[in-house]
Amino acid sequence: MKAEITVNGKFQVGEVDKHIYGSFIEHLGRAVYGGIYQPDSPLSDEQGFRKDVLELIREIDVPIVRYPGGNFVSGYKWEDSVGPKEERPKRTELAWGVIEDNSFGLNEFADWAKKADTEVMMAVNLGTRGIMEAKEVVEYCNHPSGTALSDLRREHGYEKPHEIKTWCLGNEMDGPWQMGRKTAYEYGRIANEAAKMMKWVDPEIKTVACGSSSLMMPTFGAWEAEVLEQCYENVDYMSLHQYYGNRDDNTARFLANSQAFDEFISSVIAICDYVKAKKKSDKTIYLSMDEWNVWYHSNEQDQKLPRWCRAPHQLEDIYNMEDALLVGSMLITMLRHCDRVKMACLAQLVNVIAPIMTSDTGAWRQTIFYPYMYTSRYGRGKALQTIVQVPSYDEAEFKNVPYLDSVAVWNEEKEELVLFAVNKNLNESIELSCDLYAFPGYVPAEHIVLTHEDLKAVNTEEKPDEVKPVQADGDRLENGVLKADCPAKSWNMIVLKKG
Ligand code: AHR
Repeated sequence: MKAEITVNGKFQVGEVDKHIYGSFIEHLGRAVYGGIYQPDSPLSDEQGFRKDVLELIREIDVPIVRYPGGNFVSGYKWEDSVGPKEERPKRTELAWGVIEDNSFGLNEFADWAKKADTEVMMAVNLGTRGIMEAKEVVEYCNHPSGTALSDLRREHGYEKPHEIKTWCLGNEMDGPWQMGRKTAYEYGRIANEAAKMMKWVDPEIKTVACGSSSLMMPTFGAWEAEVLEQCYENVDYMSLHQYYGNRDDNTARFLANSQAFDEFISSVIAICDYVKAKKKSDKTIYLSMDEWNVWYHSNEQDQKLPRWCRAPHQLEDIYNMEDALLVGSMLITMLRHCDRVKMACLAQLVNVIAPIMTSDTGAWRQTIFYPYMYTSRYGRGKALQTIVQVPSYDEAEFKNVPYLDSVAVWNEEKEELVLFAVNKNLNESIELSCDLYAFPGYVPAEHIVLTHEDLKAVNTEEKPDEVKPVQADGDRLENGVLKADCPAKSWNMIVLKKG
């Protein structure tokens, strides 16, 4: 099969905001306890942070990490998680049916984020708490000194403010599973008032309003419109959450989900702009895809977990090769919308539906680690409008799904043009051609391929390299046209450099 790609540096989608490569750590399962934090482990540093995990996170270059939830945040009392550890209360944690001992909290997370070279994206509890607590946690974190709360932070050993600049206004407030679920009107009102007060404390912060919990929610669309009606002036981003699963074991259908993902993004942009037009506003709302991933492998097992334990093996999806293909495709989709998707969080980062897994003896990379890591490291610059001419397929509800998903990112400073491409053809390789007339002097420098003959192949602690990328050879220039082969069922990154 053949595919023709057309790119020109003058036709740009926009500058890629590095924050689209963010991730998420929730107090859930072994994300915190036994994931990023394990004080009694020889693998941890003096603060109890797992050094092997920090290393893998730095390898990805994660620019921002959302914390502390997730559903967890709707029962979160931030005050429980600060101050002397021996005084912190143990609580029933109702989102996930466990005990939270608060031995790791807000300040520890801020310290950890520094070591991970990342920013914090903090969520406030607008489920079971209100606008005052939202204002107070911003004050505790960001106010320099001279008030009860900022001085309390200093007493706790943090002289300088944490300067957390991105704040989520609650989490999935439309979901019946959420503590303190609200109607769109109720939520829009509280989000507006909370954001207003939070910004009065620190005018530099940006706020994220909760969109629908997924495209499949019955109130999708109406929810976004009503919420924005209420809080447009005080919010900067609208959140989107989306997870996919290959529940009927139909890989072609599963991989076609990037098409639904694309439509989801376009729909939310349209709704944001509808409210903008209605309000005659000149402010644009950007999108924060602050939970996205594949999530289904662990669903059945999680039903059997006993209640009230601490840090159980929960939501521990073991990702296979086909999951990596969809994750790669979802990243390509977001890059194609990078003029509006300015923030995104792969949910989550460690152990819980995550690219990184740990045991007491080590940490390893799941299959999805690779497309995430390479796109984060190389997908910085300007995303180009990328025209792909390739045959397509129909499967179940999906029509005209291109066999090759692709996007080009041009890093002008580094004189680097990077093509990301997923070949969804399960049987045939695709010969890709890309006329480089607009990029004179650019030559192929690297071609990383992730593929495996078995789409269900996984990485484990015993076999951490079962699915891992290799360098492809054979990329060539023929009369100024790049020719490269993308094997059947593969994720690819082709780097071209000038001269
Ligand atoms: O990421 C796991 C959970 O998925 C989050 O807590 C919640 O926001 C979503 O439903």
